[in-house]
Amino acid sequence: MTALDEVKIGGLGSSRRRVEDNRFVRGKGSYLDDITLPGMLHMEILRSPLAHARINSIDTSKAWAMPGVRLVLTGETMAARNLAWMPTLSYDTQAVLATDKVRFQGQEVACVIADDPYIAKDACQAIVVDYEPLPVVVNPTGSLAEGAPVIRDDKENQPDNVIYDWEVGDKDGTDRAFAEADLVSEIELHYPRSHPSPIECCGSVADFNRATSKLTVYLTTQAPHIIRAAVALVAELPEHMIRIVAPDIGGGFGNKVPVYPGYVAAILASILLERPVKWIEDRTGNLISTGFARDVYLQGQLALRRDGKILGVRMNTLADHGAFFSDAQPSKFKIGLMHSAFACYDIPTAHLQARGVYTNKAPGGVAYRCSFRVTEAMFFQERMVQAAADDLGMDQAEFRRRNFVRDDDFPHRTPFGFLTDSGQYAKCLDVGLEAIGYQSFLQEKEEAAKRGRLLGIGISTMTEPLGAGNSREYDILGIKMFDSAELRIHMTGKALLRTGAKSQGQGHETTWAQIVAHELGIPAEDVLVEEGDTDTSPFGMGTYASRSTPVAGAAVAMVSRKIKAKARKIAAHLLEISEEDVEWELGRFYVRSQPDRGVTIQECAAAAYSNMPDGMEPGLENVAYYDPPNLTWPFACYIATVEVDPETGVWDVLRVVAVDDCGVRINPMIVEGQIMGGLTEAYAMANMQFITFDEEGNCIGANFTDYLLPTSWETPGFELHEVVTPCPHHPIGAKGIGECAAVGGPAAFVNAVMDAVKGTGARNIDMPVFPDRVYQALQTGQDVSGAPPVRAEA
Ligand code: CDP
Repeated sequence: MTALDEVKIGGLGSSRRRVEDNRFVRGKGSYLDDITLPGMLHMEILRSPLAHARINSIDTSKAWAMPGVRLVLTGETMAARNLAWMPTLSYDTQAVLATDKVRFQGQEVACVIADDPYIAKDACQAIVVDYEPLPVVVNPTGSLAEGAPVIRDDKENQPDNVIYDWEVGDKDGTDRAFAEADLVSEIELHYPRSHPSPIECCGSVADFNRATSKLTVYLTTQAPHIIRAAVALVAELPEHMIRIVAPDIGGGFGNKVPVYPGYVAAILASILLERPVKWIEDRTGNLISTGFARDVYLQGQLALRRDGKILGVRMNTLADHGAFFSDAQPSKFKIGLMHSAFACYDIPTAHLQARGVYTNKAPGGVAYRCSFRVTEAMFFQERMVQAAADDLGMDQAEFRRRNFVRDDDFPHRTPFGFLTDSGQYAKCLDVGLEAIGYQSFLQEKEEAAKRGRLLGIGISTMTEPLGAGNSREYDILGIKMFDSAELRIHMTGKALLRTGAKSQGQGHETTWAQIVAHELGIPAEDVLVEEGDTDTSPFGMGTYASRSTPVAGAAVAMVSRKIKAKARKIAAHLLEISEEDVEWELGRFYVRSQPDRGVTIQECAAAAYSNMPDGMEPGLENVAYYDPPNLTWPFACYIATVEVDPETGVWDVLRVVAVDDCGVRINPMIVEGQIMGGLTEAYAMANMQFITFDEEGNCIGANFTDYLLPTSWETPGFELHEVVTPCPHHPIGAKGIGECAAVGGPAAFVNAVMDAVKGTGARNIDMPVFPDRVYQALQTGQDVSGAPPVRAEA
């Protein structure tokens, strides 16, 4: 008998088609808004039109009087149940419904629950709120100015708008490195606000059953178990009587990690009315109130030796968190994993000083396709690196190569203290340079310049930490970061796998089954994968920060190995030999001395229910909780070439090359899809996505005609390449990939444009790099800032 062909049974390396697409492409997915329960009511939220105002009174009488209205909730109603405020994921508090003041445009002020959503919406309009406008701040400069209004005057010991001052790294050592430097390269940057904008907005259907005392909440969440714990704590309900179900959710990208006021209000409404209550945001609600990302300013410095060696790094960041500090991030890192910057470079010393402030904007800081500020970190890193190469007059590829951590230098301690464990950085760069035809492009660029054409090439190289935990260092609100998988092999050899992760479209139903196929030889099509129901799936921290494969995916491998260990004992029993004489090949145990005598994993499964050895517990199922020893460190090299029109500032992408090393690829097709999706978002962030604020705190970009999503029309083509450096500690050698291209991509595009306009003297144009900004840089030779406020007509 010959061993199974792993690719044929849908194991590792098989580009098997996405199982979930069977329902998605046929319109048969079951999203939040598809859920309809008997007797269900509908909730709408009244939002503040003002960014900062005292609330003198709220008159809900007209709303109550409207036919079909069942309940009107205000901050007062919530306060009576101690629910007017809720904890955030960063140990701050956030208003559920405003009581004293509104602090950003779009803040939740009241809710109406009615027989249908239209009545609820009309009734919201009938609520009269007497606002007393207050001065507004929309950026850190305003927030820190003398005499600035104190936004969080609800908090004791909060005399100003500073949330935290935090530092990491070696300040003295870094000062010494700068004192010894031949040259100091400096740059100031702003990573603007962006919004994850999943196709489906956030929403919930809360269903409290008085007869059973059970609360079931269908929720657009990436982290059902954390939400269950949060609901138990906030609403003081017993955790075992709460069931959170995340159905097919139409994308998350970090937007669906936090707890939102609408969830809490819908739950309370369902408890009070004893009927199911549905709340789903409209697009503007989503864009103006939930889960912003980025909005960080950087002053960066590199201490350089003349020969191109980076001696030290200084990063000074100022983050605009909006009105509540609600970042979803490990509790001990105030600015997320910003200090993962410069991990791929061999730099002796670094220091990061971070400050966070409140402003009159929606709370932000979600990790939009990002591991807790890694996107900002890598953008700053790669913009600083390019500026330094220019300052030194050195080729940007060569400057990177000189400073890379070498292949034989692992494990490597980064200047901020992380431990990286594997990678082939120079090789990835070389593959990228070869693919783009680097030298010939440089010649072409020189030739073009003689004819007044502006060509540019931008490189972005980075290793980023994916897969939080380990639990020693990573927790959210004290809950340790690990993950889980439960595997049941039925009598016929078919399997049910459940994990603590939650796919939002990444394809877990396909790829987790591939890991089982790899470990056990059970064809992937025989493995049903379920996620997202806290009543059935084992506890896990959910899916964000590309942590699924590094953590839950590892748990899938580990639980399969537990199953295999038991199946081996069964095989020994069936073959009537001792366990030591049992050998394994994919899908089958056999007698070492007689390879033809064997039993399949399916035969072992049958025996687990019908013919187990004496004294063995029946059944073939198990659960594994996986606490990773380290983060995984994928590496990427993204290269973009552009042409800038000197007359208009319009820039066109000529080519984009991506070289990704995410270790062993479970499903190459899905990995490529992840990279293309990430690059598309990167291009949109660099080029077109603009969500900002005017002086009065009005959100500009609150709909999809202003805040642009990339379509296939404007998205450039991507040329993908791979390098494989297996992760040394992951059971199958995989590293995360989901967010790499969105994290590393933006710098490649911006670096390319800056390379094209280098001759002007401008060192930076803030994203989105609009043509008018490029034109301004071309005309003035000055940096172009995109920081708010903007004038409303901009
Ligand atoms: O946490 P999230 O699912 O967003 O990100 P991920 O773990 O990087 O995985 C994204 C998708 O790519 C999943 O379907 C993974 O199983 C798949 N993947 C893969 O096939 N091979 C890898 N080395 C990494 C991810």
